Amino acid sequence: MKIAILPGDGIGPEIVAEAVKVLQALELGLEMEAAPVGGAAYESHGHPLPESTLALAKAADAILFGAVGDWKYDKLERALRPEQAILGLRKHLGLFANFRPAICYEQLTHASSLKPELVAGLDILIIRELTGDIYFGQPRGRRVAPDGPFAGSDEAFDTMRYSRPEIERIAHVAFQAARKRRGKVTSVDKANVLETFQFWKDVVADVHAQYSDVQLEHMYVDNAAMQLVRAPKAFDVVVTGNMFGDILSDEAAMLTGSIGMLPSASLDARGKGLYEPSHGSAPDIAGKGVANPLATILSAAMMLRHSLARPEAADRVERAVEAVLAAGLRTGDIWSEGTARVGTREMGDAVVAALTGKTIIGR
Ligand code: IPM
Ligand code: MG
Repeated sequence: MKIAILPGDGIGPEIVAEAVKVLQALELGLEMEAAPVGGAAYESHGHPLPESTLALAKAADAILFGAVGDWKYDKLERALRPEQAILGLRKHLGLFANFRPAICYEQLTHASSLKPELVAGLDILIIRELTGDIYFGQPRGRRVAPDGPFAGSDEAFDTMRYSRPEIERIAHVAFQAARKRRGKVTSVDKANVLETFQFWKDVVADVHAQYSDVQLEHMYVDNAAMQLVRAPKAFDVVVTGNMFGDILSDEAAMLTGSIGMLPSASLDARGKGLYEPSHGSAPDIAGKGVANPLATILSAAMMLRHSLARPEAADRVERAVEAVLAAGLRTGDIWSEGTARVGTREMGDAVVAALTGKTIIGR
């Protein structure tokens, strides 16, 4: 099995190094090859997603991705900005199904900004469509407005669109995921305003006919944003389009206390995937050794489960992370009174120690 390692920018290299350490400690004989991506690749190759990096990603069985982006690239033309690397990988590899679990670990209940009783035991799964919607819809651009009350002024526009097969395949993914969980899917739309999302709602309802054992509810995105902070435990699987999923998954992440804890998987139709933490490149803390590597380590666990067919190794990694939290180790983002503040590398070392049965020095 070959894994493409794409560390990227900001804290990416630091957190990916810890996940690589954890994968190596499992001694599964995984082959790993690294390549530049994002701003780092722009510096070395003049493009955020060089041909060589894309070729490696295509050839690999799975991809471990850190993060991309830095304010210093904001002035570049869009096609050369770091974000184009992750968007390009998703599109070129057909990674249409994005799994973003939001799980509140028992030890971190108090790290959430919501009342502990609202988030204790929280376990929801956001399934975000990742290769369509207004993110990729054509046409888009800037022009002089041809009509309307502002005709003759500069304007910009994007296109929101979804085809039936795109909605069908993500709906199947959501219903199948719900079958392995609590059997409920909330499809989030804006059918009251948008044609695209009335269609989304209709197609999801059509697919549901094949899953009578799963409960389906439809919810408008504004209400979903509200219910997520009012009664988050009422959700099981949430399925939605690319843009609403981008926004709701960040909101759901904060329910758990820290986005630094949340992994994600982006899968194609055959289960090949790209695995990355749900958080970004955090350039403000890059290189300081304080970033939380657990989201990336947990992403590696998702990789073992979904793309490498090693569920027992995935369980071992997840249990090691729980053991480290139980021992009281915390990076700054999840630190609270009475716990031991550790850096990125110490956190990774502690997970490796837990994996290999060594005692964790904590509190
Ligand atoms: C995410 C990020 C990306 C997105 C950015 C970096 C392009 O916010 O993965 O959620 O909007 O999809
Ligand atoms: Mg986002």
